[in-house]
Amino acid sequence: MGRTLTDLILSRRSIRFGFDGAPIDEQALDAIVRCGLAAPSSKNSMPWRLHVVAERRLLSEIADAMRAAPNITSYVPHDPMTGRARPDYRSTVIDSAAVLDEVPVAIVIEHVAPFTRGLDVLLTIERDKLDSALFGLALEMIGVGAALENMWLCALDHGLHGCFLGDAAIAEESIQSLLGFEGEVLGALALGHSDATPVPPMDAPARPGLDRVVYHA
Ligand SMILES: Cc1cc2nc3c(=O)[nH]c(=O)nc-3n(C[C@H](O)[C@H](O)[C@H](O)COP(=O)(O)O)c2cc1C
Repeated sequence: MGRTLTDLILSRRSIRFGFDGAPIDEQALDAIVRCGLAAPSSKNSMPWRLHVVAERRLLSEIADAMRAAPNITSYVPHDPMTGRARPDYRSTVIDSAAVLDEVPVAIVIEHVAPFTRGLDVLLTIERDKLDSALFGLALEMIGVGAALENMWLCALDHGLHGCFLGDAAIAEESIQSLLGFEGEVLGALALGHSDATPVPPMDAPARPGLDRVVYHA
């Protein structure tokens, strides 16, 4: 019996190694991109642009730019109260760059910012406008997340595996210049053929308990 959508969702994992170097066929790539574009978004604003990078040289240049970025070890979530790097997270930039060295394709997601007009504007607005602006950003990101997951699941359906690399944003300026765009870099969905299974310590055990779910029956 074929896999159902539920099977696919429950089997999706981040795969960062074991890629066999085989290219991704055009039809699969086309389906993945169309699934991304079919995602729901607030006000149908489609706050994304997808850059499909299928050239080895470009992928390696992005990986190199990530490794060359300043402060890669402190590229972890920061505490908004103190501005300090959170010690409970470790930087994954080097590992993420290594994924781009291996995969045949990465889909870089550019943030098109219909509500917030981009981080440059967001960072300069007055305090009394901040709440609604940040909510606008959250809505944009929910749409981007839907597009990402649509693409990732479609890739799985075509026998492809990979990982989303938010770390790519550390090389934002280089990526913008390599790919010729100005919007923010939200990350890259790296995809290829791999039969590896995810291993610790990069991954917490998949499928945690249901304690993040509350039933109000
Ligand atoms: C927004 C976002 C950013 C992520 N950034 C990275 C990254 O830069 N490098 C990486 O190796 N994994 C990254 N991941 C993958 C997560 O680490 C992974 O989804 C999580 O550990 C759960 O594992 P699973 O995907 O195998 O279920 C990211 C995932 C998301 C959704």
